[in-house]
Amino acid sequence: MSFASAMPSADGVWTDLCLAPEALGEGEQAFRDAAIVVSNGIMVWIGSQRALPILYASMPRHLGRGALVTPGLIDCHTHLVYGGQRANEFAMRLAGASYEEVARAGGGIVSSVRATRAASEEELFAQAMPRLESLLAEGLCALEIKSGYGLNLIYERAQLRVARRLGEHFGVTVRTTFLGAHALPPEYAGRSQAYIDLVCKEMMPALASEGLIDAVDAFCETIGFSLSETEQVFRAAQDLGLPVKLHAEQLSNMGGAALAARYGALSCDHIEHLDAEGISRMRQAGTVAVLLPGAYYFLRDTHLPPVSALREAGVPMAVSTDHNPGTSPALSLLLMMNMACTLFRLTVPEVLAGVTRHAARALRLSDTHGQIGQGRPANFVLWPVDEPAELAYWLGHKPMPTVVRQGRIMQGPG
Ligand code: NIG
Ligand code: FE
Repeated sequence: MSFASAMPSADGVWTDLCLAPEALGEGEQAFRDAAIVVSNGIMVWIGSQRALPILYASMPRHLGRGALVTPGLIDCHTHLVYGGQRANEFAMRLAGASYEEVARAGGGIVSSVRATRAASEEELFAQAMPRLESLLAEGLCALEIKSGYGLNLIYERAQLRVARRLGEHFGVTVRTTFLGAHALPPEYAGRSQAYIDLVCKEMMPALASEGLIDAVDAFCETIGFSLSETEQVFRAAQDLGLPVKLHAEQLSNMGGAALAARYGALSCDHIEHLDAEGISRMRQAGTVAVLLPGAYYFLRDTHLPPVSALREAGVPMAVSTDHNPGTSPALSLLLMMNMACTLFRLTVPEVLAGVTRHAARALRLSDTHGQIGQGRPANFVLWPVDEPAELAYWLGHKPMPTVVRQGRIMQGPG
């Protein structure tokens, strides 16, 4: 039996709630003395509890005690499934090596590839489980999980299958992203075109036909793949009808964001070095800018993403952990919210939208996640806090929210 199926149903009337401004959509005010009626796992009525229709009066009651309610949080960029960890590289970088130097010395992504290939699916699941539990404890109701540490058909498949199983076990929405073009596997050293052919012609079609891919990503960077290799990946995705997204302009400005926008990308992520052209293309395409302050902090980056320009252009900004063993071993989305405010100067409403509405859009989940609304699945969080700013304010506090996920009240780890 899965963890989720043992949890109690959230059906009934949730009363004495304070709906956070971001819960209902842009420009809303906090909504006090609110009630949410959940029936068969769906939010069927939301309004002032004084106006509760008589029809619902006999349903079980769940007392909110004035809790602040947000939509379930969404972590829209993670590499959660992998073998091992890379604390040794953290130590190397503390001794002066750069991320690029560690990667060129045979560490970096490729060292996680070795550990991932050495692990069984059971082991990958067991290793990812406590990491996911940490994220879920902070009110997560959806997350993205990328592949990219297998770098061949067998192990990319293993990562994606484990990602799906995690979603089923914990009753959390998981979007899988195929990141075969994450790094060149050692067996393809010096043969990057041959590897891109493998990604596009064999791995992607096979994994797509198995229903394991919700979106396709690539690492477009001097230490990753070139613009033209990235475009080949996008074309292959387009041929299979799969949406794309991109690790773009993290360490340098490669023009990847503009390319991704031309392919209607759901999101461009990192974007520290994004230029005006990239911003304008993203705006036209409706591409979400995913800010990853954990990687910025952990790499001791000093090149800030162009947040004011994105804001002025009206490009939606999401915030995510980028959880991965090399550049962001972050397991707290609330901490990322704090960092996005402190380091990148996001406002509280912006950061709340960044982990709800805009994160949903980056995963093509806008119809079901990221907002509280009639007809949507019951994914919401009751926070024992006085005001929304508290969610981005504490450093390292575990506020112990009540989490309603996929129509169940989640208790215990996860
Ligand atoms: O999102 N930039 C590329 N991918 C990861 C890093 C992965 C790793 O170092 O293992 C990222 O930061
Ligand atoms: Fe990443």
